[in-house]
Amino acid sequence: MNEKIYDELDWRIRVFESLSFPTLILTPGKVILTANRVFLEKQHMVLDSIVGKTCSEVFYGSNGCRHRACPFIKVLENKKGESVLRRRPTRTGKVFWEERLFSPILDDNGDVIYVMESVRDVTRMKTLEIALKETEAFLEKIILNSPVAIVAADHYDNILLMNPAAESLFGYKNSEAARTLTMEQLYEPGVARRIMRQLRHDDGDGVGKLHGMHASIVNSWGETIPAEINASIIYEDDEEIAKVCLYTDLSDKIRIEKKLEEARVQLAQSEKMASIGQLAAGVAHEINNPLTSILFYSSLKIENLPLDDPEREELLAVVEDVNRCKGIVKSLLEYSRRSVPAKELIDVNTIIERSLTLIRDPKMFGKIKILRDFSDELLMIEVDKNQISQVLINLVINAIAAMDGDGQLTLCTRPDKQRNKVCLEVSDTGCGIRKEDLTKIFDPFFTTKELGKGTGLGLSTAYGLVKENNGNISVKHTGAGGTTFLLEFPTNLPISDAKDD
Ligand SMILES: Nc1ncnc2c1ncn2[C@@H]1O[C@H](COP(=O)(O)OP(=O)(O)OP(=O)(O)O)[C@@H](O)[C@H]1O
Ligand SMILES: [Mg+2]
Repeated sequence: MNEKIYDELDWRIRVFESLSFPTLILTPGKVILTANRVFLEKQHMVLDSIVGKTCSEVFYGSNGCRHRACPFIKVLENKKGESVLRRRPTRTGKVFWEERLFSPILDDNGDVIYVMESVRDVTRMKTLEIALKETEAFLEKIILNSPVAIVAADHYDNILLMNPAAESLFGYKNSEAARTLTMEQLYEPGVARRIMRQLRHDDGDGVGKLHGMHASIVNSWGETIPAEINASIIYEDDEEIAKVCLYTDLSDKIRIEKKLEEARVQLAQSEKMASIGQLAAGVAHEINNPLTSILFYSSLKIENLPLDDPEREELLAVVEDVNRCKGIVKSLLEYSRRSVPAKELIDVNTIIERSLTLIRDPKMFGKIKILRDFSDELLMIEVDKNQISQVLINLVINAIAAMDGDGQLTLCTRPDKQRNKVCLEVSDTGCGIRKEDLTKIFDPFFTTKELGKGTGLGLSTAYGLVKENNGNISVKHTGAGGTTFLLEFPTNLPISDAKDD
């Protein structure tokens, strides 16, 4: 039965008829020889109406081929199949895409006797391809324009991509990073491994995800930058193929937070000082008058006593203690800013030298070395030199006490041109100040010295005097290695580059 069919109908024709996409057979002169069933159905044509016509006549109603990219001639020349993709709008405005495949049919000599032209509707595939390309382009735009620094790396940690934000954060060019760098080079030693460990474990974020980790990154100049890191592993069929990390530079945030904290502490300190100052001023004022009269009458009494009178000794002790009390009262008044400073323009280095010579007992220094780290520039400030000398003496005496007779006292002066300030630092290599005492050291009568050894008025007086001279005093650093007190005074004068010798 089957054999009979094959005999009756050439199987080649059956194949041609069964092709599921529209197909034509053309002569080398582009004349249609035949068309398969699908072609006739799709084009709503009958075979007789197209056989013997050129394809241009059938499709465009004219003889010249309108389709410039038609590879028909090329097929004849090269005797090889060719294809062309065409975008065709429909009458309803919809667009569809067709692929035309031209296959040469050769004779026994290898010459092209016919060309088979098949038309395939590739609209769906092409639409998907266009959508994919658009999505890719959109994603690329997002990555390129993201203000967040994005770095992608392969499974072996080789960097694949750095977006422009990452380029400026890390200081590498994407082209350079993608060829030569690994993720490890973007961190301090050990950090990359820590990140990977956290990424691969479920620490609350889920395996393959890392949220808001704070770590330092290292840029191309070797500088470390605090950053927030978010990362995720990219999987394909459960296999790690890449990772992507997002970095946010925290430098500005940290700087602002630090400034805010400093301002908060300063405000709290000023408020505390203002209320203590008021109390101190009141007490000092009330005590000052009786002290003056005690001093007056005791001195008068001493003058009237014969030199060998035994009472003389006792009265001298009274005078000495009254003078000590007056000293305390003076300090309290200075702290509460009740004395008027006699300001003058003076070089800060000169004040330091003056203060050092004013320290009455040079033996106090013991084995302590004094280092002068003075600015070469002439740093002029407008202050009461006696008051600032008093401040420096108090700081130096405290430093000596903290070093217990051995260590190094450094006196440093420098300009802060950006803030128009002159800075003066007194550093020691002493015991440091305990963290819990830091908020109390400027309070009057706060002392850690033994009873009778310190009044606890040194720093509070210094605070009042510095404020009176429009300056600022703070602990710049303290720890087991010693303490640095920082004094800052405003200067409206341009800081000269050369110091007169
Ligand atoms: N350079 C320093 N190193 C370590 N601790 C310091 C330093 N300067 C000050 N302190 C701490 O601050 C406290 C208060 O200092 P302040 O100068 O006000 O008082 P004092 O030195 O104790 O007494 P006084 O200065 O009246 O003799 C000190 O007792 C000490 O605990
Ligand atoms: Mg002191």
